Amino acid sequence: MSIENKLVLEVVRVTEQAALAASRLSGKGDKHAVDEAGTEAMRRQLNQMEIDGTVVIGEGEMDEAPMLFIGEKLGKGGVAVDIAVDPVEGTNITAKGLPNSVTVIAISERGGLFHAPDMYMEKLVVGPSTKGKVSLDWPVDANLKAIAGSLGREVADLLIVVLDRERHRPLIKEIREAGARVKLIGDGDVIAALAVAVRGTGVHAVMGSGGAPEGVLAAAALKCLGGEIQARFLPSDEEELRRLRAMGGDENKTYTTEELAPGEQLVFSATGITDGDILQGVRFFGGGARTHTIAMGNSNRVVRFIDTIHLMESGARVVIRV
Ligand code: FBP
Repeated sequence: MSIENKLVLEVVRVTEQAALAASRLSGKGDKHAVDEAGTEAMRRQLNQMEIDGTVVIGEGEMDEAPMLFIGEKLGKGGVAVDIAVDPVEGTNITAKGLPNSVTVIAISERGGLFHAPDMYMEKLVVGPSTKGKVSLDWPVDANLKAIAGSLGREVADLLIVVLDRERHRPLIKEIREAGARVKLIGDGDVIAALAVAVRGTGVHAVMGSGGAPEGVLAAAALKCLGGEIQARFLPSDEEELRRLRAMGGDENKTYTTEELAPGEQLVFSATGITDGDILQGVRFFGGGARTHTIAMGNSNRVVRFIDTIHLMESGARVVIRV
């Protein structure tokens, strides 16, 4: 059986359990507690799987992360896989109870996910209709025209997602001056990338810089969805440059979706922690909870939206309108 068929529903359990754990602390103002809860639940679940897994994108280097550190071995033994995780994508927004936080995982055969160091990366994300029609090397207005053209609309009709950061002031100005609209987000550029690749969400691209590990997770999802990410590492000092090169990266190169997520056997799952553009957050009820997940594989070409009821107390029963 392929990695995808074997693991797709198991990775759903991983992100569901992490979302359940993190959401218990959502809105309580402690981003470290949120992250710890999600990480611990994710690790516990991964260790129950029949995999010989290695974390390639995780919570940090071994000396700075007690769990899910880069290089950590996970699973009970079995199929050899590389694992990229973000147990809580949007720790701040989860702690504040704000929208669009998720828990994320991607798994591939060995070597199927780029080992990106924790630094910034300049990103351009577009959906399937715009794939191959934009370039990170072009000026912003040229990309906006290309996006509008590929979607059969005007630049003024576009909504571009940008992380609300001081460093993005010039970019935001350029997008607005070119005539498009900007959707500023507090955190969470992985789920923003997914939203761009899903029709009907009303957003058409992600622009600006964000975390490189998040770029690899987004690439895995975009490959499954037929979208595109182009990205360039942005090492901020000599030490980051050294780490990038040590991990086989090149600061002058523009990386493609395929280069960031070269795996053929790719599985991706994200579960909502708080309500968002494509996923609902965890909803608790007496004795249980309900989660919402997007899960997909690259070669099996199936995208699942999974609505799960978790009955946590033995006597708990619910009647839900479908
Ligand atoms: P965390 O959940 O690790 O805090 O990351 C959230 C996030 O917004 C990512 O989605 C994004 O890639 C990155 O942080 C941007 O970094 P910064 O907050 O430093 O601009």
